[in-house]
Amino acid sequence: MESDQIQDDSTEKTMSRRGLLGRTATASAVLAVGGRLADPATADAADAAPEPDRGLVDVVLRVNGRVTRLRLDPRVTLLDALRDRVGLTGTKKGCDRGQCGTCTVHVDGRRVLSCLTLAGAVDGRQVTTIEGLARDDDLHPVQQAFLDHDGFQCGFCTSGQIMSAVAVLREGHAGSAEEIREFMSGNICRCGAYANIVDAVQAARAAGVMD
Ligand code: FES
Ligand code: FES
Repeated sequence: MESDQIQDDSTEKTMSRRGLLGRTATASAVLAVGGRLADPATADAADAAPEPDRGLVDVVLRVNGRVTRLRLDPRVTLLDALRDRVGLTGTKKGCDRGQCGTCTVHVDGRRVLSCLTLAGAVDGRQVTTIEGLARDDDLHPVQQAFLDHDGFQCGFCTSGQIMSAVAVLREGHAGSAEEIREFMSGNICRCGAYANIVDAVQAARAAGVMD
């Protein structure tokens, strides 16, 4: 007898295991349908059931002065909400685990890693992204300083670097190159543009930029 077959001793019939499983599944389906038909109230309730959005939460995101109301899975990060739901892709996803700083944004004026921040946790709070720094056609002075000092190469880390730099200036931690390096140490640049980034921040500080 083949290993995937079952022998029925009483009838001497042979039934394949696949055939047996198929029949069992069919019988279960029939019983399930029969049970539903036997209880019209249950059937009506099932038909009238709303779309499954159980567990979703309503979140009001205030980003760069604009309000967006979202219904989200509570596990959605601020980073994913910004990029996928609000459509602001200037904030980049690098490691997605709090190790590179590429996703840095400001919440109520303080820098946070948006990949480690749940969107629901910033409900109603003021979020600023790289898109919110410029005023109309005028770049923020720190953006301009990065341009003037070639503070980037590929640019992937740059939005996070600039958001951190703005915060470092605001926090008063740009007093020296060493201090800037220390307080921006969470922002990794794979291109190694660190020297020019520090130059840009120092130039912004020398120009009196504090915010
Ligand atoms: Fe958030 Fe790297 S993507 S720290
Ligand atoms: Fe390329 Fe920083 S400019 S990673």
